[in-house]
Amino acid sequence: MDSNTASAETASQAADERSAYEKAPADGQEIDPRCVPQNLEEEPPVGDEIAYPDYDDDRHEIWGTLVERQMEQLPGRACDAYMRGLDVLDITPNRIPKLSALSRKLEDQTGWQVARIPGLLHEKDFFTLLANRKFPSTDYVRNWDELDYTPAPDCFHDMFGHMPMLTQPDFADFYQLFGKAALNAEGADRPRLERFHWFTVEFGLLNEGGDTRIFGAGIVSSNEEVTHALSDEVTTHAFDPAHITEKDYEVYNLQDELFVMDSFEQLVDGFRSWTKSRGLL
Ligand SMILES: [Fe+2]
Repeated sequence: MDSNTASAETASQAADERSAYEKAPADGQEIDPRCVPQNLEEEPPVGDEIAYPDYDDDRHEIWGTLVERQMEQLPGRACDAYMRGLDVLDITPNRIPKLSALSRKLEDQTGWQVARIPGLLHEKDFFTLLANRKFPSTDYVRNWDELDYTPAPDCFHDMFGHMPMLTQPDFADFYQLFGKAALNAEGADRPRLERFHWFTVEFGLLNEGGDTRIFGAGIVSSNEEVTHALSDEVTTHAFDPAHITEKDYEVYNLQDELFVMDSFEQLVDGFRSWTKSRGLL
């Protein structure tokens, strides 16, 4: 079944289980269909099973523009592991990368693979893939009028934002643990884990040799957040799972409070102890 056909039915079913993305628009405002989580109808293609779409030149040009804009800002602001990841994965402005090639490179580095997914997924499908060390990625690119902001992840966010960090061994282990813990979470632990994801995977900062650097996918893939996240408009807190998991956030605005961790080891160890204390792992 074509993935696009799932969305209309899912939209009505999803009314009671709206994600943070869906809750954010004001009542009565139209929801972008890309923001409606989908259920996977069948196993998504993984690694070499993923076909390369027939992108037109325009799509490659949008990709190239997005990468070039970020690369003007990232050196000296993004952490070493992220910059190394970009390099290892050979992500360049020239062409939209092949998910199959990225998957092979990730597998060499940390044993992660890429699964091609049609768009925002329902949590269970998303967490199941993570728990199996498979990163769910889209393969479509945003439009020209969405360079600065897209309401739901596109492949620029997924490939350029997320994948470089999956080459870092501790981060790679943490992300798999996150998927496993999330599958076990119930009640208030679910939004707690959502917050943990937000303030680490998407908006995490790292103390590197006394300097604060960025690594969260939501920062490295956003033109405005790269500089904003490191500016004095942002209040930073030390990494503390108990604090992070109770901290609310806004999806659509620039972030004004962020957490800085000291190492990716601290991330994986901190997550392990917190989930253990909650009986999630
Ligand atoms: Fe993301």
